[in-house]
Amino acid sequence: MTATKDKTARWRRYWDKHAKGYDRQMTFFDRRLFGDTRTWVCSKARGDVLEVAIGTGLNLPHYPREVRLTGIEYSPAMLAIARRRAVELDRDADLREGDAHHLDFPDASFDTVVCTYSLCAIPDEQRAVTEMVRVLRPGGNLLLADHVASSARSVRVAQRLLELVTVPHGGEHYLRRPFHTVQAAGLAIDAHDRFKLGIVERLAARKRH
Ligand SMILES: C[S@@+](CC[C@H](N)C(=O)[O-])C[C@H]1O[C@@H](n2cnc3c(N)ncnc32)[C@H](O)[C@@H]1O
Repeated sequence: MTATKDKTARWRRYWDKHAKGYDRQMTFFDRRLFGDTRTWVCSKARGDVLEVAIGTGLNLPHYPREVRLTGIEYSPAMLAIARRRAVELDRDADLREGDAHHLDFPDASFDTVVCTYSLCAIPDEQRAVTEMVRVLRPGGNLLLADHVASSARSVRVAQRLLELVTVPHGGEHYLRRPFHTVQAAGLAIDAHDRFKLGIVERLAARKRH
């Protein structure tokens, strides 16, 4: 087993265990920290949409009705909640098990790829972004939101200390900046926003033709 596969299996068990309490915990952070980010992200989705690491489907109510939605998630327990939510919302969506490191779709399959609050938890976030870009059609949009390394030095020191516990305990990173990975992948950044001492970052980027 490679190191990434090994970690993936471990964190899948972690998310299975935490699925039940996830919505309560995340709704608190949505209200206190992330504000209108789910609406900001999902309102920009168009056409064939892939949401990577969809979790319990907290974005589902925020997508325009007309998008054709596919979601992948590697925790069966998180996915089961997302499926229930889709039924409750009467929302057609293809929700399946999958790994962000190896997206099971041909190149250029989607007009939009969405990933919220998961690149902090995916073991190899650069590989995941490479996969997201691969499955995007030229001209398609990559929409990301996450908690990232703060723009304030003192907060980054605290985040570094926090990671000493959260990385080995839950695979949760606080010092990542997907923004740089997306730039390095050559996408054009169309919209970008950072707030709460730079801890919350969201972006819309376009795959060039
Ligand atoms: C903090 S939750 C975010 C869930 C959801 N995106 C949201 O906005 O609420 C992180 C999610 O990433 C999933 N995840 C982590 N690594 C993954 C991987 N390699 N492939 C697919 N899902 C993954 C976890 O199972 C978990 O559901």
